[in-house]
Amino acid sequence: MSFATLWESLLPIGRNGPSGGYRRFSWTPEDAACRAWFTQAAAERDLRVLTDNNGNLWAWWDPPGLPPGAPGGTQAVVTGSHLDSVPDGGAFDGPLGVVSAFAAVDLLRERGCLPVRPLGIAAFSEEEGARFGVACLGSRLLAGAIDPGAARALADAAGITLAEAMAAAGHDPDGIGPGDDLLAAVGAYVELHVEQGRALADLDAAVAIGEQIWPHGRWRLDFTGRPDHAGTATLADRRDPMLPFAATVLAARQAAAAHGALATVGRVIAEPGAVNAVSARVSAWLDARGPDERVLQTVVDQVLTAAREAAASHHVKLEAGPESVTPAVCFDPGLRERLASSLVARGIQAPVLPTGAGHDAGVLASRIPTAMLFVRNPTGVSHSPAEHAEPADCASGVLALAAVLEDLACR
Ligand code: GLV
Ligand code: MN
Ligand code: MN
Repeated sequence: MSFATLWESLLPIGRNGPSGGYRRFSWTPEDAACRAWFTQAAAERDLRVLTDNNGNLWAWWDPPGLPPGAPGGTQAVVTGSHLDSVPDGGAFDGPLGVVSAFAAVDLLRERGCLPVRPLGIAAFSEEEGARFGVACLGSRLLAGAIDPGAARALADAAGITLAEAMAAAGHDPDGIGPGDDLLAAVGAYVELHVEQGRALADLDAAVAIGEQIWPHGRWRLDFTGRPDHAGTATLADRRDPMLPFAATVLAARQAAAAHGALATVGRVIAEPGAVNAVSARVSAWLDARGPDERVLQTVVDQVLTAAREAAASHHVKLEAGPESVTPAVCFDPGLRERLASSLVARGIQAPVLPTGAGHDAGVLASRIPTAMLFVRNPTGVSHSPAEHAEPADCASGVLALAAVLEDLACR
């Protein structure tokens, strides 16, 4: 099995020396290096590589004797994940699914298995939304869950639009949008992912089956005040946007705690950023997640109300709105059952777990049957350089994925 070789060949790409975390943002040179890595891994396995209109990568193992992309009764089985990262993210979130997919193909071949329907490996673009703000952008475009014009206009922190970034990387942005034909040819998508919690450590199991994803989203808040001198502007005269921002962070924590939800402000920009001045503007991003949509809405309403009230009391202007919202997802029960029986048949014990993390499998669930496998993360830490999975658990993940792919694509 080639897991270790493949894994190590990907590890240096986009690693930030001082933090040890990854900065693999879409349509950057690091992203291009990840794409080249994917293309080479596919070429080494004689898989047919395609980049779809939305910049998602696909590597196809075509069934012998069946023309590529043959329609009707031959619906493809797809696995994979993403290669992009959050700022200073871990090595496993995304890449574990892609590397395990190639390793599972190797294992199936070693066992002499041949697909009777196309078997695809996908790497979805901008899953983390780290550059353009919208989570799962590649799969969202593919599924028709975001307007292509609105997506083209999304801008990164430097003001570069998605359209400009794609074009600069040699990809035509005019073609982005729903991939109905591509999706119609896919019968199932199974994403393997590092666990982003530590339930498996407590359950003493290496692999789990995904059950559902909490509804979640991102909201941007821009507090605009009046820049002024830190040494001369009296407290009474100030219109300081930092104060309602601070109140909002505390309100988010309180609302989440009160409702059994999660709320995080992980990104804030104070402009112009002088130590000795009242800020002109503070932009902050709220990430909120809840066990159901009613709770999520309640939490977000409470935070936005607190933000508005604090802004008004400090004579600060507030503009706030969602950047991306993903409803609750329950993975396809039939496909989940098939995963469970594939694993049971091979003696693999896999509990069923929900998650608060977003995934392309969650976005695609609105269009095609999807399922997930999680691989134990001993500390549960994720979106951090400390994210980890032991080599033995990665191997168990590959075995589990191969079992599922064999049953879905080779029988
Ligand atoms: C993706 O990892 C997310 O849950 O934000
Ligand atoms: Mn992630
Ligand atoms: Mn991920």
